[in-house]
Amino acid sequence: MRLKHIILATIAVSIINISCKNSTKREISMDEKVLSKTYQGESITHDFDAEIDALISQMTLEEKTGMLHGTSMFSTAGVERLGVPELKMADGPLGVREEISRDSWAPAGLDNDFATYYPAGGGLSATWNTELAYTFGFSVGEETRARDKDVLLSPAINIIRTPLGGRTYEYFTEDPFLNKKLTVPFVVGMQENDVAVCVKHYATNNQETNRDFVNVQIDERTLREIYLPAFKDAVVEAKAYSMMGAYNKFRGEYLCENGYMLNDVLRDEWGFEGIVISDWNAVHTSVNSLRSGLDIEMGTPKPFNEFYLADPLIDSIKVGKISEDEIDIHLKRIMQLMYTVKRMGANDRKKGIINTEAHFKDTYDIASESIVLLKNSNELLPIDASRIKSVAVIGNNAKKKNALGGFGAGVKTKREVTPLEGLQNRLPESVTINYAEGYQERYAPKKESVFGDVTQERVDTIDELDPKMLQDAIDTAKYSDITIIFAGSNRDFETEASDRADLELPFGQVELIKEVLKVNPNTIVVMIGGAPFDLGAIKEKSKALVWSWFNGSEGGNALADVLLGDVNPSGKLPWTMPKALNDSPAHATNSFPGDKSVTYEEGLLVGYRWFDTKNVEPLYPFGYGLSYTSFSIKNTKTDKNEYSNDDTILISLEVENTGEMDGKEIVQLYVSKSNSEVERAEKELKGFIKVMVTSGESKKVTLELPVKELAYYDVSQKAWTVEPGSYSLRIGNSSRNITSEVTINVK
Ligand code: BGC
Repeated sequence: MRLKHIILATIAVSIINISCKNSTKREISMDEKVLSKTYQGESITHDFDAEIDALISQMTLEEKTGMLHGTSMFSTAGVERLGVPELKMADGPLGVREEISRDSWAPAGLDNDFATYYPAGGGLSATWNTELAYTFGFSVGEETRARDKDVLLSPAINIIRTPLGGRTYEYFTEDPFLNKKLTVPFVVGMQENDVAVCVKHYATNNQETNRDFVNVQIDERTLREIYLPAFKDAVVEAKAYSMMGAYNKFRGEYLCENGYMLNDVLRDEWGFEGIVISDWNAVHTSVNSLRSGLDIEMGTPKPFNEFYLADPLIDSIKVGKISEDEIDIHLKRIMQLMYTVKRMGANDRKKGIINTEAHFKDTYDIASESIVLLKNSNELLPIDASRIKSVAVIGNNAKKKNALGGFGAGVKTKREVTPLEGLQNRLPESVTINYAEGYQERYAPKKESVFGDVTQERVDTIDELDPKMLQDAIDTAKYSDITIIFAGSNRDFETEASDRADLELPFGQVELIKEVLKVNPNTIVVMIGGAPFDLGAIKEKSKALVWSWFNGSEGGNALADVLLGDVNPSGKLPWTMPKALNDSPAHATNSFPGDKSVTYEEGLLVGYRWFDTKNVEPLYPFGYGLSYTSFSIKNTKTDKNEYSNDDTILISLEVENTGEMDGKEIVQLYVSKSNSEVERAEKELKGFIKVMVTSGESKKVTLELPVKELAYYDVSQKAWTVEPGSYSLRIGNSSRNITSEVTINVK
C-alpha cells in the first residue's frame, strides 16, 4: 500500500460554523484542523544473519573483495556459485539515469533505459510539501525497481552554503529543518519499493571547486546544527539503507575514510545499519578506508582490480594488515541490505513501473507546486487568454531541455515538455504564438581540466547578443499583445564539478530583457534555474517575475498552467536570493572557496540566518513566494504558556483566503531566543505547513513543535540541550514577513 508508513498524526475535521468574509459565496465554512503527517522507515532486516554468515564462510578472498568494490561502473560483483547476485546501482536524483557501459562512462546505447525525468531538488524543496517529497521518493523508487536496480544514488541533500554552488539545483535548501523534513518522506517513499536510497554526499560537500581534495573545517556546533540534521534524520527516522561518502576532506581526513564521521557519528551515535558507498573515485586507501567505516568503493574506470578495495586489499590481508574477520563485517552489511531490499531471499520483490502516465502526473504535481511567483504588479498574471490574440515567446530557455546536460547524472527520457510546448498545449487556438530565440547559449572553448576527469574548469559563457536576434526579439515583442521571456540558466551552465564564477545571468540575457521591456511593458519574465542569480535590474524593470526550475518531464505544462492561472502558484524560495554576492555569508566572510582548505567562517549563520542576524536585506528572502490570491494568518495561539522538555508545543492559527482564487499558503514558524547563553541566529525555521484554502474561507491549522527542536548542540556536553527561559514563536509566510508572534516559556 502506498501510504503504508505514513502515520497520520491527526487530520481532525470538525464542522463548525464560522463566519467568512465572502459570506455570500458560502454560508458555512469547514473548519478543518490540519496537522502534518509523520513518516517512518523500516529497519534493515536481521532475519537472514545466519544464512549470511554461512555464505561468507564459503567465500574465497577474491570473492569477498569483489563485493567491496565496483566491478563495473555501477555494480559490484556477486558470487554466482553461491547464489549471491551483483549489487546494482543507478544514478539519481533527476530520475533513473540511462545505462552506462560496464567499463566506461559511455552510454550503453540501449533502447529500454528511458525513464521519467523528475524535478531537480530545488523544485521539490520549493513546494515545501512533505507529501510531495514522499510522492517523489515513491515514484522514482518504482522506476528504480522497474530498471532492476537495488540502489538509487539519491537524494542529494547537502546544505546550500553558497549561491554559486554547481549542484545547488540538485540540493534542497540552505535550511536544515526544511532539508530534513523533505528528506525523511523522500527516503521512506523510495525504500517502500524494495530498493535502497543512497543519501549523498555525506557530508560537508558544499562546493564543487577543489572538491576532490579541499579540507573543510567547520566547528562542531555548526556541523551538528546545520550540516548534519537531514543526514541524521535520514538514518534515525527514515532508516536509509545506504549513504554516499563525499569527495572532500573534513578536518583533515577524506570523507570516505573519516572515522569520526562514518564510525563515531553515523554508526555509533545514529545507529546506522546500512552501507557506506564511496563517491566515484573518492577512496584513497584500502585498510584505512574500511576501518574508518567505508563498505564499498566505487569509481571511474581504471582496471577494476586496481581499486583500493580490490587487489591492494587482498595484498593487505595476505600480509596481515587487516584480518578476514574485519572484511566480513562489511560483507555482512552488504548482504543484509540485499536481503532487506529482497535482491536475496524473497520471491515477492516489487517489480516497479516506469514511464507511466501516473509517474508523469507525479512530476506534474511537484512541478506545479514548485513555481515561485516573485513579482506581479498590475496583476499582469495570470494571463487571461480570452483577452489576447498574440503572445511573444522569447528566449532560448523556451525550447531548452534539461533532462540531460552538463557534467553528471541526467535522465534519458521520452517526455520533457518545454515551456514553449507547454504554452502550445495550453493556449487556445485563437492565440498566436510568435517565437524568437533572443539570446543564444554559447560557451568559450573549454580549458583543459587540471584535476583529471573529476573536477572541471569553470564554464565560461559568451555574453554578447547577436544584433539580428536581438532585433528579431524586439520586433516580435512589439507586435504581440503580451510577451513572455524564458530566461535564466540551464544544466550545461549550472553543473556538477564546477561552481559558478559570479551571480551574473549568462548569454547577455539582462540586456535582452531590458530591450524587450522598452517596447512591450507587458512582459512577463520567467527565470528557469536552480540557484540564485542577480535579478536586481529585472526585478526593478519588469512587472511580473516568475521562478521555475529544471522541472521534470511535465515542467512546461506546469509552467503554462501557472502562467494562465489554472494553477495558483504556491512555491516559496528554499534559499535566499541575495542582492549581491558579497551579501551572502560565505562570501561576506571571504571564506569561499578556499584553496587546499576552507573554513566556514560564518559558522551557524548560513543562508537567511546570516541575512536576518546581520540585518542585510536580500533581494528575495528565504521562504518568499506570492500567490494569485491573498492570505491572512490570524488567531495564533499556543495550547499552554509553559512547557517542559518532553512536551510538544501546539500552535493553532487560522489561515484565511482573502482573495478571489483558491490557493495554497505555506505557514512558516520561526523561533527566536533572546538573552541566550549561546550564540543564536536571529530566527530559525522550526515548523511549516502547506495548506489549501478556498477563496473566502478560513482553515484552522495546528503546528506541532516538540520542545526538543529548540535545543542547541552543546559541544562541551556532546549533547543537545534546551535552554530554559522564554522563546518567541514567530509565524509568517516568509522569513521576512512575520505576522504574529507568541512567547512561551520552557521550564
Ligand atoms: C557524483 C555523484 C554521482 C556519481 C556517480 C559523482 O561524480 O558526485 O553524485 O552519484 O558521480 O555518477
